[in-house]
Amino acid sequence: MNSPIKYELIKESSETKARLGKIHTPHGEIETPIFMPVGTRATVKAMTPEELKEINAQIILSNTYHLYLKPGHDIVEEAGGLHKFMNWDRPILTDSGGFQVFSLGNMRKINEDGVEFKSHIDGSKHFITPEKSIEIQNALGSDIMMAFDECVSYPSDWHYVKDSMERTTRWAKRCKDANKNPDKQAIFGIIQGGMYKDLREQSARELLELDFPGYAVGGLSVGEPADILMQVLDYTVPLMPADKPRYFMGAGSPDYLIELAIRGIDMADCVLPTRIARNGTVMTSRGKVVIRNAKHKRDFTPLDPECSCYACKNYSKAYIRHLFNVDEILGSRLATIHNLHFLIKLMEDLRESIREDRVLEFRRDFYLKYGGFDY
Ligand code: GUN
Ligand code: ZN
Repeated sequence: MNSPIKYELIKESSETKARLGKIHTPHGEIETPIFMPVGTRATVKAMTPEELKEINAQIILSNTYHLYLKPGHDIVEEAGGLHKFMNWDRPILTDSGGFQVFSLGNMRKINEDGVEFKSHIDGSKHFITPEKSIEIQNALGSDIMMAFDECVSYPSDWHYVKDSMERTTRWAKRCKDANKNPDKQAIFGIIQGGMYKDLREQSARELLELDFPGYAVGGLSVGEPADILMQVLDYTVPLMPADKPRYFMGAGSPDYLIELAIRGIDMADCVLPTRIARNGTVMTSRGKVVIRNAKHKRDFTPLDPECSCYACKNYSKAYIRHLFNVDEILGSRLATIHNLHFLIKLMEDLRESIREDRVLEFRRDFYLKYGGFDY
């Protein structure tokens, strides 16, 4: 099997399950554990690709569902693929639409063949099958495509989760068979099974038989308490192959990223840093800062005194607060640059701590300043 995606293990932490690695893709290497900024509609909101490169973003994520509706995957394909369309020449991962379609709630109907849904834009009817999801992702040309799955809500009953998970596994096989560009575009399988250990085990076992070049943990960060999420992860990660990347779908707070890496996760993504930036919240080494707050009116220090991003090197809290207060778009841009830089740097420091085998010390020092679980 010649996969376009290869995982290289560099070092394992002796104290935790954390691991340092590299993922080789057709658009270059990424260092893991890594955080992937989200560019849902072929743009990481408020950032140019040049700015993303300046903060060392190595891979971004985009969405099948949104690009299918607008501008249409045919347009992206005609442009020469998503990389060319959006002027980003580093790796891209696309989510399959599974999560977005299922987030539509009663706007969708599911059967064995796929999911019928109404567009959140104009209410028009669409039908997405595993084959259609891969057809769209093939047109987009992403390096890593996600299998089309169902992400069940929390809480859900065991029988429902079992039926759904077994269907997700049958869909994963159909996705694999539908890939028209297997030499350049890899598919990752998504382990489901809700909060049930036996179902996670069955999902992992059956998906592993399909021999995907990477695996994701899906169906978490859906409203369950943090201790349940960590418990599920504690028994699910060891079910995943050691020689392939492990991706956690939907986490982007500093504390979660550290906890996930310590449990053996290599990749994670979330809209959190870019979304909260646009409403004026920044992540700093001392915890969250709500920049609109009146207490920053005369604070001429940077967002984070320990940060070396463009926003922190050049602007004060007082100035950025002013921008938000008068609704100037530069405020959103500076906060986004800062939040993404903060998470990318956090992951660089975390990787360094794995390399030097001092992950637990890194976690302790981080929480001492940051103030523990926060999001
Ligand atoms: N994003 C967050 N969770 C999920 C999931 O379970 N499946 C998919 N496809 N995307 C996700
Ligand atoms: Zn900064």
